[in-house]
Amino acid sequence: MSIPVVTVGSAQEAVVGGLERLHGPVTVVRRCSELAELIAACQSGLAVAAVVAEGCEELTTTLVDRLGAVGVSIIALTDDPAETRRLSSIGAVPAVTGIEAADLAAKISEAVGRQSRQSGPVPARDAGFADPGAGLKLMPVTDPVDEAAPGGGGQIIAVWGPIGSPGRTLLAVNIAAELAAEGKSVILVDADSYGASVSAVLGLLDESAGMAQACRLADQGLLDVEALSAVASPVFTKGGTFRVLTGTTRADRWTELRAGAVSTVLDAARQLADHVVVDTGFCLESDEELSFDTLAPRRNAATLRSLEMADVVFAIGAADAIGVPRLVRGLAELESALPEVSPRVVLNKVKRSAVGHSPNQQLDDAWDRYGPGVGVDAYLPADPGACDAALRSGMVLMEIAPDSALRRAIAALVCAPVQQNDSSFGRTIRALHLLKR
Ligand SMILES: Nc1ncnc2c1ncn2[C@@H]1O[C@H](COP(=O)(O)OP(=O)(O)OP(=O)(O)O)[C@@H](O)[C@H]1O
Ligand SMILES: [Mg+2]
Repeated sequence: MSIPVVTVGSAQEAVVGGLERLHGPVTVVRRCSELAELIAACQSGLAVAAVVAEGCEELTTTLVDRLGAVGVSIIALTDDPAETRRLSSIGAVPAVTGIEAADLAAKISEAVGRQSRQSGPVPARDAGFADPGAGLKLMPVTDPVDEAAPGGGGQIIAVWGPIGSPGRTLLAVNIAAELAAEGKSVILVDADSYGASVSAVLGLLDESAGMAQACRLADQGLLDVEALSAVASPVFTKGGTFRVLTGTTRADRWTELRAGAVSTVLDAARQLADHVVVDTGFCLESDEELSFDTLAPRRNAATLRSLEMADVVFAIGAADAIGVPRLVRGLAELESALPEVSPRVVLNKVKRSAVGHSPNQQLDDAWDRYGPGVGVDAYLPADPGACDAALRSGMVLMEIAPDSALRRAIAALVCAPVQQNDSSFGRTIRALHLLKR
């Protein structure tokens, strides 16, 4: 069967003429006058390949991903070597403008064959949950935080938790700081598309929205490790230094965190650092994926894509009568959205006044009653004094409250065993750990 192709660009006449004279293996089903028309034609299922004969500079990662998600390969013509490299990096197939029709047809057939193999049983690179009409990109989940990510590069640690400010940012920031203090290279990524707060927590004056900048570069095919390190601000703590991609400061800029670009940023981040710690948003809803407009940005794409790509996922909830049921429901949503993810559950802000007189026992009972089928990995004590002091000064816990049970419990999650202090609270937590094993 002949491959249906759409074309665009004033140079398309020569291309189309050449392809038609071949009488197969491709058929030009529409000549479009502009890129928007070509996109619409692809989305309506008219073609499985698009030849952009002119104006390939307008192609972005997002566009190539979205068309890939509806099964369309893009072949773009250019004679500029830099543009050729850029096109390859965003997933389009470059070809020179004077290409022979038979060679072009061969490139089209090859690209279409590759695309259909990718959308088969093996999930495509970017065909993730955050992209509509595409298979899941499921990364293997490894348990110990120190293990190298499969396929080389750094490890992605995502911190997720349900609505209600359970402590995602506190945990992500302090995990980054603890790993940096161990001498690891670390990049902290603020991917919360609802309420970015990493820069505020770290007392950074920088309003540069590093994550949005990195996503923009990724979308244009211009993001490499060097460009990433230029937009990732260094954060100096007493324990060590790590980099941070600050979040979108204005809520309405969430549209910049598109799934394809987020993948590219996280891939580049793991080339740059041993550990990529991602502070995600709370919402996992995918209703919007049912939208017919497959080019529309998705608000939860950054969270979903980060969780898909993560090697370790921490799911954190507040340890009280509101937070625990929310976490239990959230874990069920996580399971149905991304079944391959095995979260490590963390209960935060554990305090007697919220749970009752024997807080850890009460929490244990409640957890068993709700029965989400996954054990609690760690209990983090409430420590408003340390948290407020950290926020006030823009410091991390290891600087402001190095001996606090909270800091030690966070360090124990990601670093070699640290000595627990001997407070009765510390002992109770240890006892609970043993109970859960
Ligand atoms: N263990 C704790 N003890 C006391 N206060 C805490 C603890 N953990 C977090 N907090 C405080 O709770 C508030 C919310 O924490 P954080 O910003 O980390 O939550 P979040 O889940 O990222 O919320 P958001 O929905 O805003 O992203 C902050 O003021 C933080 O200092
Ligand atoms: Mg937060």
